[in-house]
Amino acid sequence: MQKKIGVIWGDCSSVEIVEQAVNVLKTIEKKYSHSFEYIDIAMGGQAIDLYGDPLPSHELDKCLSCDSVLLGAIGGPKWEGLPGEKRPEKGLLRLRAGMGLYSNNRPAKIWPQLADASPLKKEIVDKGIDFIIVRELIGGVYFGNHETHEENGELKAIDSMPYSEHEIRRIGKIGFETAMKRNKKLCMVDKANVLDTSRLWRKVMDELKKEYPEVEYSVMFVDNCAMQICKNPSQFDVIVTENMFGDILSDEASEITGSIGMIPSSSLGDGTRGLYEPIHGSAPDIAGKDIVNPIACILSAAMMLQYSFDLKEEAKDIEKAVNAVLNQGYRTQDMMSENMKLVGCKQMGQLIVNEIEKG
Ligand code: IPM
Ligand code: MN
Repeated sequence: MQKKIGVIWGDCSSVEIVEQAVNVLKTIEKKYSHSFEYIDIAMGGQAIDLYGDPLPSHELDKCLSCDSVLLGAIGGPKWEGLPGEKRPEKGLLRLRAGMGLYSNNRPAKIWPQLADASPLKKEIVDKGIDFIIVRELIGGVYFGNHETHEENGELKAIDSMPYSEHEIRRIGKIGFETAMKRNKKLCMVDKANVLDTSRLWRKVMDELKKEYPEVEYSVMFVDNCAMQICKNPSQFDVIVTENMFGDILSDEASEITGSIGMIPSSSLGDGTRGLYEPIHGSAPDIAGKDIVNPIACILSAAMMLQYSFDLKEEAKDIEKAVNAVLNQGYRTQDMMSENMKLVGCKQMGQLIVNEIEKG
């Protein structure tokens, strides 16, 4: 199979993990006789340094000419003082919107080998953690009007949170469809006791649920959900929620699985072209030290093979390799526990490559 893969190397420690993910893709390419072309794309801090803009239109066009895009993470202290429009994060938001990626899929699944690394009590972990957060990605407060003005002798800032019915319906459908492929349980998370947007989500979701009679549908307030994720995570199968709630809850959900360094994500729109990225940030504090965990990025590459290219066997091969390396006791420092073997980023990547070549 011939595919064009956009590669956004990202900022700070991102470059180290993307390098390992690309090595894994090249190994798969060879093993299964595919032909992948890798197109370097600058976005975030790197693009600011090169072009003075976190996502110049020529770089977005490059993404749109690829079959899919792999990203590490962007941002860092170097660009923190910049105004909102010029920050690395703005490049990511423009990329998601420019590619039409409204559906962000963030799995929270515990690897049994990492149960000891979870901050939750053993009896909670033992009940199982395996759910998915379907996060709306190109609406809500991230894309509303933002302004700061002076009023009565002080500054006042406003961030608005718009949602229209069609934006809710298309992500709601993904929530139901995802539940149908799993354990047929969908929980919509909102703040309908306060927000108009949440009340609109409820109305649209109530209409949609009639099309999915097999799905056990429920609603939950976001504050309660934050508590339930650490108190009783095994109750969840699929959570669907708006952009910012999904951002916050997915960090919490990843941490209870042992390490945020293990969780990949996919972002998709109506077609098969997606953006695949770990859910963690660019970890500037550990950049250049070869200690960052490359697995979330490697698993993001696996998700790309599965969801954008329909290469299920190849994706499974990567997951099996990760599983084998964890079984052998290798750990990066973020998921280290007693009696395990500590390895760096490069060595972890190489161990996974070796497993794929062996199998
Ligand atoms: C994420 C990140 C981004 C977000 C930032 C970098 C804009 O936190 O992907 O979760 O808030 O969506
Ligand atoms: Mn986030």
